[in-house]
Amino acid sequence: MRQGFRVGVTRDFLKPDGTSGFGDIGLGLLDSAGVAWEYLAENTPELRAGQVRDFDGLLVLGPRVGAAALDDCGRLTIIARFGVGFDSVDVDACTRNGVLLTITPDAVRRPVAAAALTLLLALSHKLLIKDRLTRAGRWAEKLDYMGQGVTGRTLGLIGLGNIGRDVINLARALELRFLAFDPYISSEQASAAGAERVDLETLLRESDYVSVNCNLTDETYHLLDAERLALMKPTAYLINTARGPIVDQAALTAALRAGRLAGAGLDVFEQEPVDPDDPILTLDNVIVAPHGICWTDECFRGNGLSACQSILDVAAGRVPRYVVNRAALEHPRLQRRLRDLATRA
Ligand SMILES: NC(=O)c1ccc[n+]([C@@H]2O[C@H](COP(=O)([O-])OP(=O)(O)OC[C@H]3O[C@@H](n4cnc5c(N)ncnc54)[C@H](O)[C@@H]3O)[C@@H](O)[C@H]2O)c1
Repeated sequence: MRQGFRVGVTRDFLKPDGTSGFGDIGLGLLDSAGVAWEYLAENTPELRAGQVRDFDGLLVLGPRVGAAALDDCGRLTIIARFGVGFDSVDVDACTRNGVLLTITPDAVRRPVAAAALTLLLALSHKLLIKDRLTRAGRWAEKLDYMGQGVTGRTLGLIGLGNIGRDVINLARALELRFLAFDPYISSEQASAAGAERVDLETLLRESDYVSVNCNLTDETYHLLDAERLALMKPTAYLINTARGPIVDQAALTAALRAGRLAGAGLDVFEQEPVDPDDPILTLDNVIVAPHGICWTDECFRGNGLSACQSILDVAAGRVPRYVVNRAALEHPRLQRRLRDLATRA
């Protein structure tokens, strides 16, 4: 047993009946290393100081972690966020209190990339339309819904980071040509990932599929507005597994309705949950998912394993790989804690 190192797991990982809502989330990794863990006693939307201060590490899914808990956080040394978003955690308060915050980009990479490709293939093959025909006894109408072969087509990636690069890795076998628009990478980096770096207008004009894989920032809000969507080929498909507000959804709906785009695959929406009366949901050439198309056993186990590995690194006095607030490493309290833990390990 790693003496005295205690991990709290937020209770929202559990269903109301007390069983795991996400299957195996890798907690066995803590068991194998002899690190004690337990679910927090209460499921609260925001963690209170009293819930966190007796733990060295926290594995956190949904609850917010704000300054009130962090400014009185006792022995807390690491918050391992399950997933890549961390807007629910007050990063400045973590840093000022010498608490490390980690995320799990390694675990979402493959599931989201596979999800983008799932949408691409399903759209090309008009999968949902053909599913509906088959169920409705409209077998002969398949002649009206010819699919689009992918070989030799062009896939344009907006954002060539963690996930965008893996989309290319997975899609290589389809013999696509890859274009990328990403202002923060060089042509050499794009080419090493297998893509040609181009400007956004060229990408939109030349692509048969456009996959959105950038972060949502002030700069990317409505990056795909009516004017930019109008640059796309009428035979092209748009896939968004990144964040809804990167695409102007009303403009997308209008373009799809008018036949100025062939279709769209959307895991994310401007407003989530999407309003069931949203007109985009009435369109046949749109495939949608509830911001969860990447939710698989692989995804949840991977997120859990990555988060638990970060906790184990800290329990051994090491700096974990996916730290959000590296500035916290300068904090004397954290430096002292890591030294103590390394000595004990
Ligand atoms: N659907 C889901 O369940 C799900 C799960 C995980 C991540 N995501 C989203 O997927 C997206 C990609 O995640 P990631 O892990 O690859 O992130 P990442 O940070 O590794 O990559 C994002 C890339 O976008 C680029 N970028 C930033 N600003 C840009 C701009 N103005 N134009 C073009 N590119 C720009 C960055 O340079 C970076 O290369 C994010 O929006 C993330 O929130 C969605």
